Amino acid sequence: MLHEQLARAFPDLARIEDKRLRDAVADQWRYVGECNPIHTDLERIPAHPSLPVERYGSLAAHIRAQLALSRTLVPTYAKEWNIQLSLDHFLACALVHDSAKVIEFVEQDGALVATPGFDHAYEGAKIALQVGFPREVAHMISVHTYLGAKRLPRTAAAQLFQFLDPICLPVFPELGKSAVERHLEANKWVAPPAPEDLP
Ligand SMILES: [Fe+2]
Ligand SMILES: [Fe+2]
Repeated sequence: MLHEQLARAFPDLARIEDKRLRDAVADQWRYVGECNPIHTDLERIPAHPSLPVERYGSLAAHIRAQLALSRTLVPTYAKEWNIQLSLDHFLACALVHDSAKVIEFVEQDGALVATPGFDHAYEGAKIALQVGFPREVAHMISVHTYLGAKRLPRTAAAQLFQFLDPICLPVFPELGKSAVERHLEANKWVAPPAPEDLP
């Protein structure tokens, strides 16, 4: 059961001070695990079926990176700009923002594939409200996919989490299509040609 692996996979879960948020994290993973029981090992779920775990790390690694960077980001904003963000909200959001991928990624002819048209951010936010997350966290989840105009963040926390998401994925131009290029393509955006002398 995926929700039973959370404490081992994510030691930072224990840093969430509000027990209701910790419980909601477990409830959300229980919910998605029951929706699609083919996923039995948190460390074997990819960030996307097109990104093999062996090369790009697991979805769990993506989440661990977000937890680690959140622990630096939140105090940095307080120290440098006196902007108070909730570390509890960042940690909880990191832990569940991609959980609906468990529902999205299904098996077809022995291979893992993404369900076409499935919006894991939107679905994840809906589940988050059902399991008791506050609206602020549900909003962070629903806009995290960095899809441009359709996903404008309305809060500082949502904006920062949106930027944090692609930072925590080693998908770089040296390896093929970069995270930026993938986002552009997913949004059917065509970038104008760069100047010839661009370094
Ligand atoms: Fe995502
Ligand atoms: Fe993500």
